[in-house]
Amino acid sequence: MSLQVLPLPLPPSADPAKFAEFGREIKGFKPSEDFNDPQYKEIEQLLYKHGALLFRDTVVTPEAQYALTKAFDPTSESYGHGNNKTQATKKSILHPDLKTVPRTPQVQVIGNGTVYNYEGLAEAKLKHPHHATFHKTKISQEDELNGATRFYRWHIDAALYDLSPPKVTTLYAVKVPAGQPQVCRYDDGTGDELKVPLGTTAFTSGATTFDILPPEYKSLAVRAKVRYAPHPYVWMAPAHALSTGLGIESEGLEVPLNELPAWEESKVKTFPMLWKNPVTGALHLQVHPCGISSIHIDPLPAGASREGALFPDGADITDLKEARDLIYKMMRPGIAPQLVYPHDWKEGDLVLFHNRGLLHSVVGAFKPDQVRVFHQCNLAASSDPEGPSVEDVKKWA
Ligand SMILES: [Fe+2]
Repeated sequence: MSLQVLPLPLPPSADPAKFAEFGREIKGFKPSEDFNDPQYKEIEQLLYKHGALLFRDTVVTPEAQYALTKAFDPTSESYGHGNNKTQATKKSILHPDLKTVPRTPQVQVIGNGTVYNYEGLAEAKLKHPHHATFHKTKISQEDELNGATRFYRWHIDAALYDLSPPKVTTLYAVKVPAGQPQVCRYDDGTGDELKVPLGTTAFTSGATTFDILPPEYKSLAVRAKVRYAPHPYVWMAPAHALSTGLGIESEGLEVPLNELPAWEESKVKTFPMLWKNPVTGALHLQVHPCGISSIHIDPLPAGASREGALFPDGADITDLKEARDLIYKMMRPGIAPQLVYPHDWKEGDLVLFHNRGLLHSVVGAFKPDQVRVFHQCNLAASSDPEGPSVEDVKKWA
């Protein structure tokens, strides 16, 4: 069957120029069956080129979803956050959101409401994460009744400790409750807001976030590495997020390092701030803003102009607030309303996204009787992401 590659329908809020290469709907390929087909290689290229691929009206078993996800990284095996049975993961803020399919522990059931006798789970209480459980400030009840909501948490799917960030995440919509659109508010003094379908998943491109940076910040980004806290989701559990969901308020609430579950320096993750796309070669600004603990910046390479350069001699930014403020300044432009793709989920949608090239966020709030069921799969990768090449540093520093 020949592949049809169609643009994703963009909402009026999106700037079409910035989304020319972003996202495609694929027809003529059965993702649940054809991942062994030679055409699969074409799908892989399209995924890295466009960041997100949508397949409509699919029927995908957990086994097939796992196999499809694994096809992008054949030697990967375990769920992106490892198994969630250990002490460390029980204390993690992610724990309540994850219900594992017993026969395919790489596939998680997520959503809202309670389902019974579902995929081997006698009873699964699903809870769509609500901003009030994570953000420092909350939308008033009255505004929420009128449809106001927030981005819950902008992130990459990644353990950020010990395991390598998954290359691809697959999200399969089994049950999508109908409901009115909501208005996602940034509440950061800018007045920014975005009309979104109920329970959307919001995506932004890390390549665009890099692309729109002023030259001095591009120079900084290409020289920077970000260190994450050990067991970051346990570490951040007592802390509160910013109203945009793009990082944590610096209130000193993080779990002290010596009170975390046992950790080893060798498993702490330090990643380049920019991750290189394996197909396009583009640089994607890929930082999980909630988990960062410090930033290392290399000096400018020999011969680079020092005029207007930030940290020309390099720096180690170990003050948590300073590191967070810098990351926020660099990433906030990338989540501007016109740069966000809010997917309008329909039952049977399967979305594959390049987890090392995008940021995404849960959005919205459901009532308890609005049952939503999704299957999510990603696999801790076989290797860490690649950063900028020597040529990239020369070009941008
Ligand atoms: Fe996610």
